[in-house]
Amino acid sequence: MRWNLGLAYLAALLGCASESFAADTSVVRDGETGFTFSEFQAQYQIGQWVTFRVAVPSPAPANYDLVFQIIAPNAVGWTGLAWGASMVNDPLTIGWASGSTPVVSVRRTSVRTQPQVYDGAKVQLLKTGSKVNGTHWQITAKCSGCSTFTTTGTTTKTLNPTGSNRLAFAYSKTKPSSASTAAILTVHDVYNYWDHDFSVAGNIDFDQLVQRNA
Ligand code: HEM
Ligand SMILES: *[C@@H]1O[C@H](CO)[C@@H](O)[C@H](O)[C@H]1NC(C)=O
Repeated sequence: MRWNLGLAYLAALLGCASESFAADTSVVRDGETGFTFSEFQAQYQIGQWVTFRVAVPSPAPANYDLVFQIIAPNAVGWTGLAWGASMVNDPLTIGWASGSTPVVSVRRTSVRTQPQVYDGAKVQLLKTGSKVNGTHWQITAKCSGCSTFTTTGTTTKTLNPTGSNRLAFAYSKTKPSSASTAAILTVHDVYNYWDHDFSVAGNIDFDQLVQRNA
């Protein structure tokens, strides 16, 4: 009896917590920061996942800022997002934990060697939602320059704020040795691609939420 009740309760909870699914992502409202995110669970090892979340302003202006969240088990050395779904010619936002300090670094490269620090996109780590605890590290950051960027030459790519966008991640088990944004990254053990639905990631109070969490 208790078992059945428990299951029904769980089902009801789940029904509330994740309302819709599209592309490879689902919607979550993060109670801690107040952002509505669309989320992808990236499997980097059998039975192990990193969560990548994206929030966008609604309506989104041209060249809109976005907020992304990375939630990773402490066994993840570094992991990052490639906003153009490629290692090359797009902004890469990479996170790791340096002791109890969450770190985020923006890189870019045109060749498949260690990407160098890139200042064409700016990230602001949001205090609320960025932390390290006994099991996970977590980054919540605003990015200016991740939604629109040049790829090669004068070609510009803009991520559709009301549609699905192809993204990629990379994961390395090797932790960078410092909190410097220019720290050396050891090549990834895994990378993969997915379709991230931005259409359900809209936040009408985006700017206020950024301020409140900063
Ligand atoms: C020391 C740093 C890195 C090195 C040496 C490196 C090297 C490479 C190499 C050699 C490949 C080709 C692999 C193959 O064809 O099998 C590759 C692919 C890839 N890398 Fe990296 N990588 C580094 C960092 C990163 C970072 C920081 C990201 C993203 C956050 C990333 C994302 C990817 C992706 C998505 C691919 C798939 C092919 C592509 O889309 O271009 N890499 N990397
Ligand atoms: C540690 O952080 C993760 C990711 O934010 C969270 O899911 C987990 O509940 C936290 N653990 C504790 C003990 O607070």
